[in-house]
Amino acid sequence: MTIEIKVPQLPESVSDATLVAWHRKAGDTVARDENLVDLETDKVVLEVPAPAGGVLQEILIKDGATVVAGDVLAILVEGDSKASVAAAKSSAPAVEVTADTSSNDDSGPIKTSPAVRRLLEEHDIIVWQHPFYWYSSPSLLKEWIDVVLQHGFAYGREGKALEGKKLMTAITSGGRRDVYKEGGMRKYSIRQLLAPFEQTVTLCNIEYLPPFVVHGTHLLDIKGIIEAGQDYRRVIIALRDGKLTAEELSTFEYTNDVFV
Ligand SMILES: Cc1cc2nc3c(=O)[nH]c(=O)nc-3n(C[C@H](O)[C@H](O)[C@H](O)COP(=O)(O)O)c2cc1C
Repeated sequence: MTIEIKVPQLPESVSDATLVAWHRKAGDTVARDENLVDLETDKVVLEVPAPAGGVLQEILIKDGATVVAGDVLAILVEGDSKASVAAAKSSAPAVEVTADTSSNDDSGPIKTSPAVRRLLEEHDIIVWQHPFYWYSSPSLLKEWIDVVLQHGFAYGREGKALEGKKLMTAITSGGRRDVYKEGGMRKYSIRQLLAPFEQTVTLCNIEYLPPFVVHGTHLLDIKGIIEAGQDYRRVIIALRDGKLTAEELSTFEYTNDVFV
């Protein structure tokens, strides 16, 4: 029986992928679940496993091509080769390649996109910019953290890629500053509520800078919005130019307090 090897469903909001490299060539015998080819999207690297053991009859799409979900990448002839017999005996379930982001190590089917890793490696300062949602971040940042900060890359004995970099959270919050203090109306300060982010960053040996925070966004008039934007610009430029060190900032609750 011949089987079409297709591009699996891509992660949400990703329209296409690049075929990075085939691990097998036409005529090769392959085992079930063996990774045949890597596809790279903006977000992740997807592996496409062989759905059955057999012989890779024909490769239809070559390295470097752009593909979309459902494209036929190759034709596999399912056969009673040693590989497929061995695979048939195995009770392991077939690997379904999906946009599953639950894996946090390098052994799963999804790895951080090399493009994302490269960007992180090339820059010294990382900014997590987001509105404050439910005393935390929108889910997209959480997903980014789960997918990007993988063992062996961002943490763990071999995971030193981000060591020594600086990270600042930049948030807008509907609540006024005076409600966010220990024992105040919202019970906790912003710094306390951001503790899981600070701890995550610290575990990756990244220097955690005080956050840049714009409060009371619902009450801001256009003048206030422009001023907040100007403050943000000053902070970003000062960080870029090495004029604000983590040590100097450590006495401030927020990075923007430096300019008050
Ligand atoms: C789902 C949701 C949850 C929010 N949770 C909070 C919150 O916990 N604390 C807070 O101060 N503001 C909260 N807000 C207000 C947002 O922080 C505010 O609308 C946002 O910072 C404004 O920025 P934007 O114009 O970029 O959306 C929330 C808003 C939404 C839509």
